[in-house]
Amino acid sequence: METTCNITDWIERIKTMKNFRELDESFIEQLVRQALALASDEKEILSSIKTAIQDATNRFRAMEGSYREMIAELDDSPDRGLTAADHELFAADLLRRHEASKERIPFIRRYYKEIFGLLPPIGSILDLGCGLNPVAITFMPVSPQVHYTAVDLSLDLVDFINDFFRLAGISGIAIQSNLLNGIPDIEADLTLVQKTLPLLDRVEKDAARRLFDAVRSPNAVVSFKTTKKRAKAGDSRDFIAEYESLLAASSWETVKLVYPNEIVFVLKR
Ligand SMILES: C[S@@+](CC[C@H](N)C(=O)[O-])C[C@H]1O[C@@H](n2cnc3c(N)ncnc32)[C@H](O)[C@@H]1O
Repeated sequence: METTCNITDWIERIKTMKNFRELDESFIEQLVRQALALASDEKEILSSIKTAIQDATNRFRAMEGSYREMIAELDDSPDRGLTAADHELFAADLLRRHEASKERIPFIRRYYKEIFGLLPPIGSILDLGCGLNPVAITFMPVSPQVHYTAVDLSLDLVDFINDFFRLAGISGIAIQSNLLNGIPDIEADLTLVQKTLPLLDRVEKDAARRLFDAVRSPNAVVSFKTTKKRAKAGDSRDFIAEYESLLAASSWETVKLVYPNEIVFVLKR
């Protein structure tokens, strides 16, 4: 009973903290349970929860308030008389507000042209751990009728993506969901899991493998960040090598593409 109270108190405490308020509650609960299992000192527990949130999501995203401000910016943006180049500039400006999409901007047009060039026509996309990537639809050679479902942990980010879909006239929906609980039950022609699998494994052993096994779409794009920086402690697993052997043993037809800071596997079955 005492432990349950403790867990509830910790969840309430974390939920009200700046920069954590928008997070999925089940994710907070998972981190609280893990921290309580490993430490009893209050400072240690708090520090371990904060580090886990930072590693999984906050280090990529803009600070609290920013995505709500961006929604206002979107509402103020002109919706008439814009050329395709204007749309791309606008999208690139938005993509800068999430670290994962920011580092892709220098080669984003080539990136999506090459990826979609390997795939059959795509009518629906499920983007898991999406960040701001749905905004990059401007650079994806897909039909204007494509349906886009985007999934991430934070409500403000999800609200922003929903507003973006509405204002850009895209058929799409963004959902707040914790992928550690599984993939939302949504049919799609293409599943995107870009630069996200290692983050899941860091919170829960084997979560990346379970998520990958649960992908039901006939096509998928799975990518990993590559970095020249020294790996942080606990970050030493070679996910790319692990993934290559997993794919070699699977029924997916695989093409590997290499970009300056990202390795991409384009999968078909
Ligand atoms: C490295 S970023 C990649 C973003 C995007 N896929 C891209 O490549 O531009 C990882 C994203 O996964 C999200 N994420 C991490 N753990 C998650 C979880 N358990 N459930 C849902 N999303 C998660 C983070 O919030 C973050 O937006």
